[in-house]
Amino acid sequence: MITASIEVAVAALKRGDLVAIPTETVYGLAADASSESAVRRIYEAKGRPLSHPVIVHISGIADLERWATDIPDWAYALAKKCWPGPLTLILKRAAGVGDWVTGGQDTVGLRVPNHPIALEVIKASGFGLAAPSANRFGAVSPTTAAAVLEDLGPYLDLGKDVIFDGGDCSVGVESTIVDATGERPSILRLGAVTREMIEAITQLEVIENTSEIRAPGTLAAHYSPSATVHLKMFEGADGFIGLAELQTPEGMLRLASPKDVSEYAQVLYQALRRADAFGLDNVVAIPPEGQGLAEAIRDRLLRAATKS
Ligand code: TXA
Ligand code: MG
Repeated sequence: MITASIEVAVAALKRGDLVAIPTETVYGLAADASSESAVRRIYEAKGRPLSHPVIVHISGIADLERWATDIPDWAYALAKKCWPGPLTLILKRAAGVGDWVTGGQDTVGLRVPNHPIALEVIKASGFGLAAPSANRFGAVSPTTAAAVLEDLGPYLDLGKDVIFDGGDCSVGVESTIVDATGERPSILRLGAVTREMIEAITQLEVIENTSEIRAPGTLAAHYSPSATVHLKMFEGADGFIGLAELQTPEGMLRLASPKDVSEYAQVLYQALRRADAFGLDNVVAIPPEGQGLAEAIRDRLLRAATKS
């Protein structure tokens, strides 16, 4: 069912069913992280390979040591400054953390979401919530409850599973993922917590991602709509995404006109989904310039433009 009730969501999680839940980044498809059978259903609904780990969402730093061990001081500093918020830390897993959330690796991904509904559900259930983005594997992440229903509706059992309608996500792109298992932070996925912020907080230089850790969000083709995405002007395209300051080219449907970079992040996935809803074949998306969140948007656009 579709709900806006914390009690309904928590009851579903306690039964071992799935709950699509809003966070500040994108909607997640959540289950009790300590239940192998519940987490397995996430993989089935998403069509996601079992070897790909899922993020465990916790309610605060106090829960860190239940899930992770050997936590460096600089990772604590990041957690203190950035949580709740769009930062996922990859840490050595604590004893008892199941292979079903780690993809069989000895690390676990942890995040405290900055969303009142997600936080309330985690606190009320007493669970860590395993939650990848609530989309079919490889598709564009959902930033509205309607997008979750459209994408996963056929793969959920809505007699038992629940979609929590908590409105639009405010950030709009997935969390920054930082590998915190080495001497220095390494960014595995760009997001709203920027390299500059991480270096300022940790007083360490961020290293290139040379890690062997698997992270499917880092596959070349991901976040892909059905439409072909072009990152510069393309004659004959039928849709256009770009900052408001850019004019809509003749003959193209305007899919988004964000006024700045943070609004660009917020509306990007909805714009890509709209392109598919209109059945467009070719969409021009002019990437924003600059550092920080603009880099995360360029990263997602590049993957959306890459055909698998
Ligand atoms: O903003 C977000 O991070 C959203 C919301 C729902 O929290 N979640 C999300 O989850 O984007 P997902 O599963 O779509 O992407 C999580 C990424 C994947 O690329 C996964 O491989 C990586 O995190 N990941 C999770 N645990 C990991 C681990 N132990 N080691 C390496 N990568 C990990
Ligand atoms: Mg995802």
